[in-house]
Amino acid sequence: MSIVTNKELLERALEGHYAVASFNTNNLEYSQAIIQAAYELNAPVIIAAAKSEIDYMNGYAFVAMVRAIAGPLPIPVGIHLDHGPSYEEVVRCLRYGFTSVMYDGSSLPLSENIANTKKVVEAARACGVSVEGEIGVIGQASDGPEGPQIDSDMIGLADVDECERFVAETNVDAFAAAIGNAHGLYKRKPELRFDLLEQIRNKTNTPLVLHGGTGIPLEDIRKAITMGVAKINFSTVMRKGAIETLRNTLNDHPGELDYMKLLTPARNKMVEIAKEHIIMCMSDQKAWK
Ligand code: 13P
Repeated sequence: MSIVTNKELLERALEGHYAVASFNTNNLEYSQAIIQAAYELNAPVIIAAAKSEIDYMNGYAFVAMVRAIAGPLPIPVGIHLDHGPSYEEVVRCLRYGFTSVMYDGSSLPLSENIANTKKVVEAARACGVSVEGEIGVIGQASDGPEGPQIDSDMIGLADVDECERFVAETNVDAFAAAIGNAHGLYKRKPELRFDLLEQIRNKTNTPLVLHGGTGIPLEDIRKAITMGVAKINFSTVMRKGAIETLRNTLNDHPGELDYMKLLTPARNKMVEIAKEHIIMCMSDQKAWK
């Protein structure tokens, strides 16, 4: 068992009452750390990259790297495009060998988001790749003076009827709904709209994805999982841990010229952070043979 689709990962997560942690990567050390953490905890995991991260690494190199590292290990790993901005980017990722793609048309009018997502689903299905869509705009936690505002005008909360229509018409394998979550560092404790999550879950029967996982308290993560969230995205927390560790290492060893010695503590820190978040998602010991 090694490289699998998110559809398979998320269906099993729903059945098993846990969520699969999805971590963004942009280089070798991040990717090694994510896969190492999942391996040590015998957990399924998703390794994700957004367009800028794919451009930085080279899509073919990224997929080859993940397959080389994770392929021999007895854990299921999904290779996912995060926030795909266009049909063209999705098609490129299908060619690179991703097993899951997200198309994010959430800033478009609903009918356009649906039409584009349907096109993505058609192309991805032909390649055996799963698709995640988005409804409502999941913004940046830095938006607004107090971080994300729980107000549909400010961060574009998902609309329940739109979610129902979106899922029915696109037939996506998973979708992200904006419920008061945001990417980046929250300035205050996020107030997730669990009432909205419940209504969305009642009207759709598709695994839900929670973006902006950094800083969401454990009890909220666990509650979201009981309400049908099967995938939780984490990015900032890994970057913050890695960069702070690297900065300390550089300060402590100003003359060090061995790049590997400088990066190893940062990579170890990322293993630690990824393990912590896999355990939050309760996906440890959930790898299947
Ligand atoms: P954070 O950076 O807030 O963890 O969000 C990650 C994410 O949702 C990627 O899509």
